[in-house]
Amino acid sequence: MKALLDKMKMIDASQLDYKKLFDFILPFEPRDIAYKEFLPKIVNPKEYSRRILMLNPIELVLIHWPPGVESAIHLHEGFWGYVGVLEGEALNVEYTIENKTLIQNRAVIVKRSGLIPEPDGVIHKITNASLTKPLITLHFYFPAMPNLDGLKLFSTDGTIVELNSKAPSASLFLPKDCYKSYKKSQFSFEDGSKGKTHLISPIIPKPSNKEIKEMIQDYYTEQAHSYDNSDLEDDKRRIYVDAINKIIVKEFLRIKPHKVLDLATGTGRRASKIKEMTGLDYELYGVDLNLEMCEQAKKKGIIAYCSDWLDVSIKDEDMDIITMLYSFGHIPSSSERIQFLEKIHFKLKPGGVFYFDVFNINDPYEWGPRALALFEEYNLDYFGYEKGDVFYKRKEMEKVSFLHYFEEERLVALLESLGFEVESVVHMGYVHKSGEILSGIEGKLLIKAIKK
Ligand SMILES: [Fe+2]
Repeated sequence: MKALLDKMKMIDASQLDYKKLFDFILPFEPRDIAYKEFLPKIVNPKEYSRRILMLNPIELVLIHWPPGVESAIHLHEGFWGYVGVLEGEALNVEYTIENKTLIQNRAVIVKRSGLIPEPDGVIHKITNASLTKPLITLHFYFPAMPNLDGLKLFSTDGTIVELNSKAPSASLFLPKDCYKSYKKSQFSFEDGSKGKTHLISPIIPKPSNKEIKEMIQDYYTEQAHSYDNSDLEDDKRRIYVDAINKIIVKEFLRIKPHKVLDLATGTGRRASKIKEMTGLDYELYGVDLNLEMCEQAKKKGIIAYCSDWLDVSIKDEDMDIITMLYSFGHIPSSSERIQFLEKIHFKLKPGGVFYFDVFNINDPYEWGPRALALFEEYNLDYFGYEKGDVFYKRKEMEKVSFLHYFEEERLVALLESLGFEVESVVHMGYVHKSGEILSGIEGKLLIKAIKK
């Protein structure tokens, strides 16, 4: 801790800005900070405890959060900084106020060694996401606030309170003499996820490739019994999938394949349906990580391998067609994507075709632009992210999954560098103009890549 305090003392406050402070904090390594001896004791298990470690030239505060405890929703007005997670799991929830409505927006999980940005003007709250373990955070603020005088807090019932210098914490449950003002019915509250089926659910730092694969497996296991019906639940997705299937069936009828391999085949439902639609009698192979889904694929007559594509050994190396529908984006990193594509290239016969579809990072109707904003605002390149990485969950479910969104030109260039010729990229409407072939930047991308 002493080394960190000494380093912070070196900051020239007259030159400091938001970006420079971030650079100054780096590298943020909890294992190098002996914080335990400075930890403020929990007085009330329903409130966090804070200890100011430094006020000049910046403010450094150590906060100890009991399980499940959260800050009030508060506004950063004229002060800004970062919160480093030393231990535990913080949930940072951000809000905006528009037309007297407080809208709940992003919710980001930040784990040990992650940093939460708190720019000037942000309205947010931090919660200890664990109901069993403590959360310990280190807060870097500028300019320093020797007390909480003037801090504005929001309650979702529409109340705005302003603290005075007596307030010991940013809480809505303090004695009345801790408040400068207490105004009711100031705004209405709206959950920004209303009407949405899936939510972005970022995790900082980015989990390892192995962890991401396990997360994706858990996500699909959670829905293994209902997944075959989820397309039907969502009209837009069904229309999209039907439109892609039609294009693929037309291609199959022209190519007349003998051997087709479907990667991430899941329950095999879609690959079987495509085969049925073609009326062709080809050998259908499948690979899927998820054991339970893979067993269901076998029951549909698919020669299914329950494994990671990179580990699986299929003797035949003369596939006429390989498909990977709706799931190429689940591959956790660019290095694995390259290995995936190299193996696909190897397993195809010369002239064989690889069809796959991906989310387009530039589609304004999709999560790509939001993922890019998050990437910049949360400095995600520092935390292992690649531009286009998105963690998400079904709103009513627990498990989080991962998808990568792609930039068309870069993806085409990658495929060509690996020995494919990209014959076509179809832009297909998904949420917006579902099932329509689009031009410009809209739509998901269906790629047809031929082994040269
Ligand atoms: Fe804050």
